[in-house]
Amino acid sequence: MEKSALDAILNRATVRSYLDKDVPDEVIEKLARAAQQAPFTGQMYAFIYTRDKEKKEILAKHLGRHLAQAPVFILFCMDFRKLEKFIAYKGRENKSGQVQMLFLGIQDVAYAAANMITAAEAMGLGTCFFGGAPMIAPLLTEMFKLPDRVYPVVGMSLGYPAVKPGPRPRIPTWCVLFKDEYHDLTEDEVAQALSVMDAGLIREGYYRNLGAKIPKPEAGEDTVDYDTYGWGEHISRKYARQAQSEILKQLLAEKGIVL
Ligand SMILES: Cc1cc2nc3c(=O)[nH]c(=O)nc-3n(C[C@H](O)[C@H](O)[C@H](O)COP(=O)(O)O)c2cc1C
Repeated sequence: MEKSALDAILNRATVRSYLDKDVPDEVIEKLARAAQQAPFTGQMYAFIYTRDKEKKEILAKHLGRHLAQAPVFILFCMDFRKLEKFIAYKGRENKSGQVQMLFLGIQDVAYAAANMITAAEAMGLGTCFFGGAPMIAPLLTEMFKLPDRVYPVVGMSLGYPAVKPGPRPRIPTWCVLFKDEYHDLTEDEVAQALSVMDAGLIREGYYRNLGAKIPKPEAGEDTVDYDTYGWGEHISRKYARQAQSEILKQLLAEKGIVL
């Protein structure tokens, strides 16, 4: 029995452990159709899926260990190549700048991927994104034979959940929804928002179960343990790390996307 769209959206949570039960091709095709029905600018995407154990094991080493146990891996690529074939067929050339293409291409992929995870949830499946995909573009290029102008944006595991977590916290809606004009959060409001996130995730043992504590970027002893390591600590450590933009720019250039 399928859930309503709103139920699927509001109850979705990332799933990182799966039953040993295959996801049939017809189900994957239905998910791809749902993904395609998202709004688009140029349908600049390709979804490549595999059940190959060896491939999943290799990818698990780079993207996240639970992937080795997931029945299916799906790679979401930004596909300028296909769009440019449609344009060439009509005797024209793509003259948009590369930054503009990147903006639009990532949006096409993201809305499609978001549709797919909602459809998966509605059909009783679980998913987890892997954000490390763009950084391992050379490996993915070889593994999935990605041509130039096709670039990996995000990976995803897919399967029937072994454990179905409840929905995870978000910062309060008043932090993101503003009437008439932008509201710049005060320091008190920042503290309130972070405490909502921290309380929910620490209660679940979220980072502890994932073993996902990021080493403290500054020198000195790390006095924060998993009883106090919450979302604020996590994102502030994550974004304080060395930037990877230059590497990413280089990897994009290798695929013919020169910014
Ligand atoms: C672009 C992107 C990349 C992500 N990468 C990873 C990842 O590499 N590993 C992982 O376990 N979860 C990953 N996630 C999932 C997030 O950790 C998760 O969505 C977030 O913690 C909120 O949890 P929820 O989806 O259960 O509500 C990613 C999510 C997004 C949108």
